Amino acid sequence: MKISPQDGKTLGVVVEGFDANTATAEELAELKKAVYTSKIAVLKNQHLDPEEFLALGKKLGDVSEYYEPVYHHPKVKEVFVSSNVKEDGKQVGVPKTGKFWHSDYQFMPRPFDLTLIYPQVVPSKNRGTFFINMAGAYEKLSEDLKLAVKGTTATHSVLRYFKIRPDDVYRPISEIIDEVNGKTPPVVSPTAVTHPHTGETVLYISEGFTMSIEDADGVSRPDLLNELLEATGQLDRTYEHENIHLQTFEKGDMLVWDNRSLIHRALHTATPEPAVSYRVTVYDD
Ligand SMILES: [Fe+2]
Repeated sequence: MKISPQDGKTLGVVVEGFDANTATAEELAELKKAVYTSKIAVLKNQHLDPEEFLALGKKLGDVSEYYEPVYHHPKVKEVFVSSNVKEDGKQVGVPKTGKFWHSDYQFMPRPFDLTLIYPQVVPSKNRGTFFINMAGAYEKLSEDLKLAVKGTTATHSVLRYFKIRPDDVYRPISEIIDEVNGKTPPVVSPTAVTHPHTGETVLYISEGFTMSIEDADGVSRPDLLNELLEATGQLDRTYEHENIHLQTFEKGDMLVWDNRSLIHRALHTATPEPAVSYRVTVYDD
C-alpha cells in the first residue's frame, strides 16, 4: 500500500495497492490516520461487489444503515444508493442526492465519522464532489468572527432538503413536515466543535442543514449564520472560493473522507448523464 499527496491539491491523498479483502489491521489504521489528517483518501483500482464494500466499512468501524429505506440497495441495505439510472424500468435508490452543502447525518444527534463513496456509473464529464474543510475554514476566520462564535449553538434539521418519496405524492405538505419533525427532530450542537480524532476546532454548520444559530441567551443570530456561510465559501455559486476543493474521480476509485471535518456538495448539471454511486457510512467513536 502506498499513500501519496494528491498532485496540486491541499486536501487529500491517493492510495495505491490497497486490497479491501486482504488489508491488514496496520494498513487499515494507516488508512484511517491518512483520512483524518488529509481529510480525503482516494483508493485506486477497487473492484468490490456491494457485500465486499459493506465488509470494508465494517473493518473501519460500525456501519450504519440509512434511516430512510428508500435509499437502500435492494440486496445490501447498509449500502446507500444515489442513482439516476433505472434498473429493469425501476428506480433504485434516489436520484440527485446531496446537491447542497452538508455533512452526512449532520441533522442527527450522532454524525458519522467516515463516509465511503464508491462510484459505479461515472459520467464522462462534470463529475466530482465539492468539499470544504471546516477545520481549516475555522482557522481562517477573523478573530472577531471566532469570538462571535464562542458560546453559540447551531440548530440542524433535514427539513429543507428532505426528499419527497414516491409514497408522499398527494399527501398534505403539513403532514409530511410534522412527520419529518417527529422522526428527526432538530438537533442542537455547539457552533464550533472539537474533532474527536484530531483535536481540531471544526465549524459545525452547513447551508443545507443548519437552520439557525443561537447566542448564549437563546437569541437567534441569522446575521452570524450568514456571515459564517459567506466566510467559509458556502454562498459562492461560482465554486471558486479558495476553501472549495473539487474532488474528481474515475471508475475504480473509492473516496473515503472525514465526515466530521468536511462538508460536501454533489456536482449535478442541468443535463445529467447517467450516474450511480454507492455509499457506506461508518461510526468510529
Ligand atoms: Fe452527502
